[in-house]
Amino acid sequence: MKIGIFGTADEPIESALAKEIKSLGFDPLHIRADALDEGLPLSIIDNEYWYLGKNTNDIKGFYLRGIPGAYAPYMEKDDSLVLFDDWYTQYIHAREKASYFVSWLIALQHQKATLVNPPQAASVLQYKPFQLHVLKAVGAEIPRTLISNDPKAIKQFKRENKDVIFKPITGGAITRRLDASAMKNLDAVTYSPVIFQECIDGDDLRVMLVGDEIVSCVAVKTPQQHLDFRDDPSYSGGEAWYEEVTLPPVIIELCRKAARECGLLFAGIDIKKTKDGRWVFLELNSSPIYIDVEFKLGHQITKAIAELTVGKRKVKTKTL
Ligand SMILES: Nc1ncnc2c1ncn2[C@@H]1O[C@H](COP(=O)(O)OP(=O)(O)OP(=O)(O)O)[C@@H](O)[C@H]1O
Ligand SMILES: [Mg+2]
Repeated sequence: MKIGIFGTADEPIESALAKEIKSLGFDPLHIRADALDEGLPLSIIDNEYWYLGKNTNDIKGFYLRGIPGAYAPYMEKDDSLVLFDDWYTQYIHAREKASYFVSWLIALQHQKATLVNPPQAASVLQYKPFQLHVLKAVGAEIPRTLISNDPKAIKQFKRENKDVIFKPITGGAITRRLDASAMKNLDAVTYSPVIFQECIDGDDLRVMLVGDEIVSCVAVKTPQQHLDFRDDPSYSGGEAWYEEVTLPPVIIELCRKAARECGLLFAGIDIKKTKDGRWVFLELNSSPIYIDVEFKLGHQITKAIAELTVGKRKVKTKTL
C-alpha cells in the first residue's frame, strides 16, 4: 500500500520517515514539492491523480513536510531582495501550482486517506491567531496578546505590559523585543498586523504530540540565553542540548485538545515553563523539525509519525 511523503526529498526527516514506513510494510512514494517547477508530468485524468506516470489514487496516508505557497518570486541583489521582471506571470504560475497540490491532497483526504497534517491545518499557511484562539478556548494559558496594525493600540499594550515581544502572524522570523528602536518604527506596522505579546520568562519546551500520545517533551538549552533560542548561533550549529521534561496530565490533555481543535494529527507544541510553575502555550507547529532531539535523546518520533501516517495509530481529530 502506498504512503505519500510530500516535500523536498533530500531532507533528513523525509528519508528517516520513508525508512520507517518501509519497515512497517508500506510503500513510500516521494512527491517532490518542486515537481511542477521542474516541469515533471502531473495530471488529473477524470479525477484520477497521476504523478510521474504513477496512479496515486490508492495512497492511504500522506505526510506533508511542506507545500510550496503562492508567492511572487524574488532574488537577492546587492544585499536586498528584488522581484523578477516577470514576477506577475511567475506568481500566477505559483498560485496555480499551489492550488493543484492542495486540491490533490484534500481530494485524498476526502476519500479517507490520513493526512499528517491536513493542508488546511497550517501546512500551507500558518494561522497563529486562530491557534491562540483555540488554545484559550480549550483552557490553556497563553501570553497576554495583541494582534494589530494600530500603533495607538500597540503603545497602550506596551504601557500595560512593559516587557513586550513581537513576531509575525505566519512565523518564520526571529521573535524580537519591542524596545525603544522598534517603538520608533511603529508606523510600519500599519501595512500588516503583527503579534505582540507579554514576554514570558522561562524554559522553552518543545512537545511532540503524535496522535494522542506525547512521544517527546524537552527543554531546549543553548549556551547563551536568547529571547528566541533560534537566534543563538550555537543552536543552528547543532550545539543545543535537551533536557527531558515530564508534563502534568492536565497539560497533556490541553495539548491533545488544542491539536484536535486545530485539526492537527501531529504537532510540535511550543510551551514556556516559568520558574513559578506556569505552562504558557505559544503555538502548534504542523511540521516541526525534530531530528536533532531524536538523534540526541533517542526519542522515537519518526517511528510514531510513520505509524500514524500508515493508520496504525488512531486519533479522534476534528477536521477543519
Ligand atoms: N510571548 C513570548 N514570551 C517569551 N518568548 C517568546 C514569546 N513568544 C515567542 N517567544 C520565543 O520565540 C520563539 C518563537 O516564537 P513562536 O514559537 O511563537 O513562533 P515561531 O517559532 O517564530 O513560529 P514558526 O515556527 O512558525 O517560525 C519561542 O520558541 C520563544 O523562545
Ligand atoms: Mg515556535
